[in-house]
Amino acid sequence: GKAVKVALLGCGTVGSEVARLLTEQADELAARAGAPVELAGIAVRRPGKHPELPQHLLTSDAAGLVESDVDVVVELIGGIEPVRGWLLAALRKGKSVVTANKALLSEYSAELSEAADSAGADLYFEAAVAGAIPLLRPLRESLAGDRITKVMGIVNGTTNFILSAMDSTGAGYAETLEEASRLGYAEADPTADVDGYDAAAKAAILASLAFHSRVTASDVHREGIGEVSSFDIAAAKALGRTVKLLAICERVTADDGTESVSARVHPVMIPRGHPLASVGGAFNAVFVEADAAGELMFYGQGAGGAPTASAVLGDLVAVARNRVLGGRGPRESAHAALPVRPMGQT
Ligand code: NDP
Ligand code: HSE
Repeated sequence: GKAVKVALLGCGTVGSEVARLLTEQADELAARAGAPVELAGIAVRRPGKHPELPQHLLTSDAAGLVESDVDVVVELIGGIEPVRGWLLAALRKGKSVVTANKALLSEYSAELSEAADSAGADLYFEAAVAGAIPLLRPLRESLAGDRITKVMGIVNGTTNFILSAMDSTGAGYAETLEEASRLGYAEADPTADVDGYDAAAKAAILASLAFHSRVTASDVHREGIGEVSSFDIAAAKALGRTVKLLAICERVTADDGTESVSARVHPVMIPRGHPLASVGGAFNAVFVEADAAGELMFYGQGAGGAPTASAVLGDLVAVARNRVLGGRGPRESAHAALPVRPMGQT
């Protein structure tokens, strides 16, 4: 078939792994998508800093690349502006978008999905929550016939890396955070990780999908790990517990039977025998409870270039296949909306 042309926006920790896998696995990806998946351009901030990339593909003009003759935009820059405008422009032109940008999705997923729907384009974002772990597709598709009541787990690799190191080796907070940045786990501004903003963005995305609601990051009660000291960790240990930063999203039923959604992120002292206690390093683990399915657990690498690129590539094959075969990805129904419980009420 005709090649599916891909614009790659951003070629840092995640983008460089996507570019590598796209090149190394070109034949397999073409076979799975039903047409060659061709890298048509790569936008970065400083092209001169990327001698390793094919120079004829490099540009600093992301907007121009989005406007050019491409079918799919893969966004791995991060942050809200100017990325939001570029992705809206792409979707409005009917181009499919794959993104790992949870900060953007947690505020603007309604606007982005509406733009995608009205132009018949796909918007996929598996990599935005829990890195390599297939979690959003199961929530949106596999569990679409069930009634999810709770989604709870570890969704930030950086803070889990820090808490695990403090617990096991007594390592200090600052040096461990530096290592998490070096390993490509932390956000460009790591306060997003340690203050819980990243986990809150992910909780908003999870709650929106699980409960067919519209939860934004500001609806999520948020507390980071800034106040967790080595003394707290030692005290937890003495009690047979360990400290984990958890995201907890629940369907809440009031006394009068009305339902709403509550989402929160905060450190929790959990018993060492609990399955979440043994999740170490930058791994993530998420429990999902649904009426018919019962309890499900999702586990895997939640951060880092290659694991995140795995999820991006999976989305890219899906949107390429949809373009080749004329299919469409999952969509949110516009009228579905379980109310969101005001922050602080749990
Ligand atoms: P990096 O900071 O490593 O890379 C960002 C890339 O974007 C760089 O290549 C940078 O260019 C480019 N860029 C920045 N501004 C512009 C601009 N205005 N125009 C064009 N290019 C620009 O980030 P990550 O790869 O770590 O993260 C990318 C996205 O993926 C973020 O949304 C992040 O939240 C998300 N994510 C990251 C994960 C991780 O483990 N790292 C996991 C899951 C999601 P240059 O190279 O020239 O600086
Ligand atoms: N900074 C994020 C984390 C990257 O540490 O989990 C993965 O989304």
